[in-house]
Amino acid sequence: MPDRPPVDLGLVRAPQAASSPPGTRLPAVAVDGPVASGKGTLGRRLAKALGFAYLDTGSLYRGLGAIALEQGLDLRDGLALADLAARLQASDFQRSDLRQEAVGQAASQVAAMPDVRAALVAFQRRFAEAPPSGCTGVVLDGRDIGTVILPDAALKLFVTASEETRAQRRFLELQNKGDSATYAQVLSDLKARDARDRSRTTAPLRPAEDAILLDTSEMSAEQAFERAFDLASQTFGA
Ligand code: DC
Repeated sequence: MPDRPPVDLGLVRAPQAASSPPGTRLPAVAVDGPVASGKGTLGRRLAKALGFAYLDTGSLYRGLGAIALEQGLDLRDGLALADLAARLQASDFQRSDLRQEAVGQAASQVAAMPDVRAALVAFQRRFAEAPPSGCTGVVLDGRDIGTVILPDAALKLFVTASEETRAQRRFLELQNKGDSATYAQVLSDLKARDARDRSRTTAPLRPAEDAILLDTSEMSAEQAFERAFDLASQTFGA
């Protein structure tokens, strides 16, 4: 393990549960969904429109996955990875290689380790309880936000679309970036990652019981945003 100085991102010391009084709902939007469902774009836009802080929780797992690949760590070594997770620095979530497919697959692998998830829970909850820049609420997107990280979120969305629609969207995005991946590769990577994220024992990808399903297969990004913003306006009176 290389010598990475610990930094105080609150990754290990925050309380184990969001501390809103019983019965109250956090001013938070949980946006969960599978690969390439459009939850990131939607979450970011929603946060901007509501004046809320936004956290892409996938970037935490991607940052960890990228470092693990770089250092040749065993992606099944939960304890070593959790130790690394507790030392993540803000710059690790902002690396330019985070969107690479190999990093996404590594992120999904490290995210299946219970110790890794435990090391990252507190940081996410603290972000929601004390949002940066004086924001009055937060939008978090990920896989387990509505079920595990913020079970008291006032609004929970589960964004999805058919596998083919999601693969097609991701394929076009990659083509526009000049990437030579084929549609068949993109579809098979997407299926593999979804299957791993859904079948892991700790915090698997699934809608919370009180989540509102947003199937965007037949929607444009604009229509998906309008629907989500309507729901948020009803919830927060924006
Ligand atoms: O949202 P994303 O595709 O950037 O996430 C990358 C991987 O990280 C995803 O395949 C599973 C994992 N992840 C997770 O397990 N829990 C989250 N809240 C967010 C991401």
